[in-house]
Amino acid sequence: MSIICVSSPKGGVGKTTCTANLAYGLRRLGYRVIAVDFDPQNALRLHFGLSLDDSRGFVENAVHSEDWSSLTVEVADNLCVLPYGYPGQQLRKTFEQYLLNPGFLRSRFTSLDKTRGTIIIADLPPGDSAALQAVASLADLRLTVLLSDSASVSLLPIVESGDYYPANVPANSRHGLVLNQVDPRSRLNSEICTFMEHRYGDEIMGLIHRDEAVSEANAKQRIVFENAPGSLAAQDIDALVNRVMKELVRLEKRGG
Ligand SMILES: Nc1ncnc2c1ncn2[C@@H]1O[C@H](COP(=O)(O)OP(=O)(O)O)[C@@H](O)[C@H]1O
Ligand SMILES: [Mg+2]
Repeated sequence: MSIICVSSPKGGVGKTTCTANLAYGLRRLGYRVIAVDFDPQNALRLHFGLSLDDSRGFVENAVHSEDWSSLTVEVADNLCVLPYGYPGQQLRKTFEQYLLNPGFLRSRFTSLDKTRGTIIIADLPPGDSAALQAVASLADLRLTVLLSDSASVSLLPIVESGDYYPANVPANSRHGLVLNQVDPRSRLNSEICTFMEHRYGDEIMGLIHRDEAVSEANAKQRIVFENAPGSLAAQDIDALVNRVMKELVRLEKRGG
């Protein structure tokens, strides 16, 4: 089982879009992928074709159910989603309390690991949260999504401080940045992108161009690969998927 944590100190940067596209892309490579929504906005499911009035969600049963595989919604062969749902304030708080217990999420994630080659990919709410601490302390790969704009640059000290992710990340794990909404037509955007590439080098795991194809696909509840396979964003996401897959294989080999 491999675990990917997709987060950001900032909202609206493309975390959910990246999570969904990575899930589809990794599945295309033959993995069994389970996408888990830890954001009360409950938006991840919309990328998997679930309708707005579908109220299914795992959080309301997360504490009492020891086997989370019974809470998954299968959306395609080898592709499942655990929508956040609408648990209400009390159940949400209880869930967050349980997330503080180090063994809780580990055992629930293990319950999802029914076949070899399972990848769990978690979409987090913006900023710090009990979910971020719990997921990042288990994840093989921590992906931080940022935009190439000045607001994201101003958040770099938070990411660099080492305080954003928990201190106890797994020894055999790594961090990667995804720069989203890259726009070569904007000078500022390009300059920031060059700065980030220079500063972070190999830690940058993907650049995704700003592309209408992404928002159009989101609006149609389709995935960019299917809706606009020739688009720039589809090519970028394809490259990101391949890079992520390589990192997971490398980490697995290192871990023995
Ligand atoms: N590369 C991109 N090009 C154009 N629009 C994008 C791109 N990535 C994300 N978006 C749009 O930005 C908005 C925020 O994306 P979302 O994935 O919901 O962000 P987050 O989960 O970080 O809040 C959505 O409307 C999405 O369609
Ligand atoms: Mg989101």
